[in-house]
Order: sequence, then structure tokens, then C-alpha cells
Amino acid sequence: MFTIGKVRLKNQLILAPMAGITNLAFRKICHDLGAGLVCSEMISANAIAHGSKKTIELYLMTDRSENPVSFQLFGSDPKNIKIATEAITNTNCDIIDINMGCPVRKITSINSGAMLMRDQKNAQNVIKAVIDNTSKPVTVKIRSGWAKDKCLTYLKIGKIAEDLGCSAVTLHAKTAEQGYSGKADWSLIKKLKESLNIPVIGNGELWCPTEIKNMIDQTGCDGAMIGRAAMGDPDIFRRTEHYLKTGELLPEPDCKDKIDTILKYWDYTQKFGTASSGNIKLHVFQILKGFRGSKSLKAEIGQITDQKKLRKKLEQLKSD
Ligand SMILES: Cc1cc2nc3c(=O)[nH]c(=O)nc-3n(C[C@H](O)[C@H](O)[C@H](O)COP(=O)(O)O)c2cc1C
Repeated sequence: MFTIGKVRLKNQLILAPMAGITNLAFRKICHDLGAGLVCSEMISANAIAHGSKKTIELYLMTDRSENPVSFQLFGSDPKNIKIATEAITNTNCDIIDINMGCPVRKITSINSGAMLMRDQKNAQNVIKAVIDNTSKPVTVKIRSGWAKDKCLTYLKIGKIAEDLGCSAVTLHAKTAEQGYSGKADWSLIKKLKESLNIPVIGNGELWCPTEIKNMIDQTGCDGAMIGRAAMGDPDIFRRTEHYLKTGELLPEPDCKDKIDTILKYWDYTQKFGTASSGNIKLHVFQILKGFRGSKSLKAEIGQITDQKKLRKKLEQLKSD
């Protein structure tokens, strides 16, 4: 167990923020399966400040049964960040996270995401605009730097975050230029942990319980953030929690177990009104990855446009 500010997490395992994936229903599934903290997809401070109905109604939706939950903001204009922070502070989320790692052009071209790592003054302004306008713990999610260099950007930004009063820093141990490819350099997580007094969360290429434990052991970090592995396998939280506690590796879920999970996800999307059938298909495809016959099944499911037929197909697969 560890704490981020005043928020106590039941374990060290955190669902990464993922645009298009970590909506309320998916966060709830990961929470049910053992995640100690779940994170929203990145939310535009500009959109909140401009009163976007979709952003406010959909992205700021929480349910008490998913707590603790962190909402992630992106943006670079302190005025809009202030308005967005106040709006988020009025929700039931527990933590506000600042995105300083997104390498996508749409985000960096508005000086947000990983671009903040190239402009430390602006990074400072953004952090201050959040901290000064909320009573909730604030965290930042960074990359090792923009490009491979000797500037140790992650250590500088980590220190700025700590000095300004942030409650934790997450390091995705890749550069912005790497995007999602190449290796994550976990040794940087260790260096960041050694240089800060606030909790450090390690992220990057954590695909199974043994890798997660290795990363925690090698770096001494406080928490492990899991992204892509959870997309097709939210049960990774339950197995990893068990492995960290007992050293025993539980069997991986089979195709039927995974379909069961997707049906529960579907039920949550209906309960919360969060996702389209396109989004459900995306999760179905993730879950089917690696199973025998998944290619033809994917093609077949891809053709189904009717929600009832899709549900029937999944239920049939479960009982086959
Ligand atoms: C589809 C997708 C969407 C993502 N969206 C976000 C986001 O909104 N905010 C963010 O900070 N990181 C985002 N990320 C990055 C993840 O949070 C995480 O840092 C990255 O996937 C590395 O972790 P992994 O190797 O466990 O996947 C996204 C990643 C993916 C694959």
C-alpha cells in the first residue's frame, strides 16, 4: 500500500491513462480486477474552459465504485488550466494528473504534452496553475526527455514538480521521439526515485506480473503503471497483485474468461452510457489477440454492425 498525497492506494498497481480506452467503464473493470488506482484518458483543459458539453459530461464522469481515480489534464494555457482544474476539483476524482508525456503532434503543436518538457518555464506555469487551484493531490506524468540527450530533463522536471508541491511523478521511461517503440530504460526510473522524496511511479513495457515485479525491484519505485498490457488483459492487475503478495503465478485467463470480461465491460458501458459499439469492438479485438482462430473471428466480428448480433456472437463464443 502507498499514498499519493492523502489518497491511500490498496496496492502499487496503476492503470495508465489511455486516450480512447480508459473511459469510466474500462476503469471500473480494472478497479474490479484489482488496480490500486485508475486513470482517465487525457482531458483537454481548453475544451473544459470552452464549455465543451461532450468533454464535461463524458470525460468528467466518475462513479464512486471506481475510486481512487485520477483525472489527467492536458493543456498549456494557465488561464484554461485554472478553469479546468476548478471543474475537475468539483468532481469525485481523487487526484489530478498533468500530461507532460504525450508525443502526438496534435497535442505537442499546442505546446502541451511532451512539449512541456522542452519548455521548463511553461511546465512550471502549468503545474502552478493546477496546484494553486485545487485541494486535491497533483501528479505529473513525464517522459525521460524529448530526445535522447544528456540534459537529464526528467530529473529537472521531476524536481520542479516536487518543489512546486506535486504529490508524485510518473516516469514513462522513453523519450518523446521514441513514441511507443523501442525499449523503456528502467534505470532512469531508479535515478528519478533516488533523486526525489515524493513517490515515483514507473511505466513502460510492463507486460506480465514478473516484469512488473522486476521493474519495482530494480528501481525501488513506489508504483507500477500498466498501459497496453491491460488493454487486452485487465486481469493482469489481479494476477500481479497475487504474485507480488505470494510469489505464485496464477494462470492467464482463457478466451472464455476474456469474453466474460468484455461482456462485463459492455454492461458497464450501458450502465454509464460511455461507449459506442465501435469502442466495444476495439476491446474485443484486443482481447482476441493471440487466440487460435482469432484472425477469422476478427474478420467476422468486424462485419457485424448490429449491437444485438455482436452481443449474441460473444455470448455464443463463451458457451462454445
Ligand atoms: C492507446 C493509447 C492511448 C494513450 N493515451 C494516453 C493519455 O491519454 N495520456 C497519457 O499520459 N498517456 C497515454 N498513453 C501512454 C500510456 O499511458 C503509457 O505511458 C504507455 O502506453 C506506456 O506504458 P505501456 O508500455 O505499459 O503501454 C497512451 C497509450 C496508448 C497505447
